[in-house]
Amino acid sequence: MVPPPLPPPPGPATVVAGAVIENGRVLLAQRAAPPELAGRWELPGGKIEPGETPPDALVRELREELGIDVTVGEPVGVHVPLPTGHVLRAYAVRRVAGTPSALDHDAVRWVGAADLHEVDWVPADREWVADLVMLIGPE
Ligand code: CDP
Repeated sequence: MVPPPLPPPPGPATVVAGAVIENGRVLLAQRAAPPELAGRWELPGGKIEPGETPPDALVRELREELGIDVTVGEPVGVHVPLPTGHVLRAYAVRRVAGTPSALDHDAVRWVGAADLHEVDWVPADREWVADLVMLIGPE
């Protein structure tokens, strides 16, 4: 008998986002929706579905949204409460296959540490700017 999948660990992570870092830059995606967030930039990700762990959800979301395969590493920064009642949490991820494309976003781009403060972030993700600068390191 195959045991049923374990439920997600207790705790508040209900939306996960991934920081793909390569060559001193992090991959950002520009939201297409909802209207109040469209045009602003985020770490790509999405909601955890029933039966998924946070890393499972992040692997699925980045495949669906960007067409890339990743392995999930360390958490990044604080858990950020969202106005929807969800809690958002970021992880460093490593790209192992695929070229990022905006399958669900308006655009994707690579941004270096020096430019991260100037990005038009979705509000929640701005919390992680200092953590991302530290992870990326100086240019
Ligand atoms: O793709 P899915 O519908 O599962 O999730 P989403 O619409 O991408 O994200 C769910 C919620 O998390 C939305 O309210 C987003 O605004 C928010 N979010 C965020 O603030 N920052 C991110 N990096 C990812 C999602």
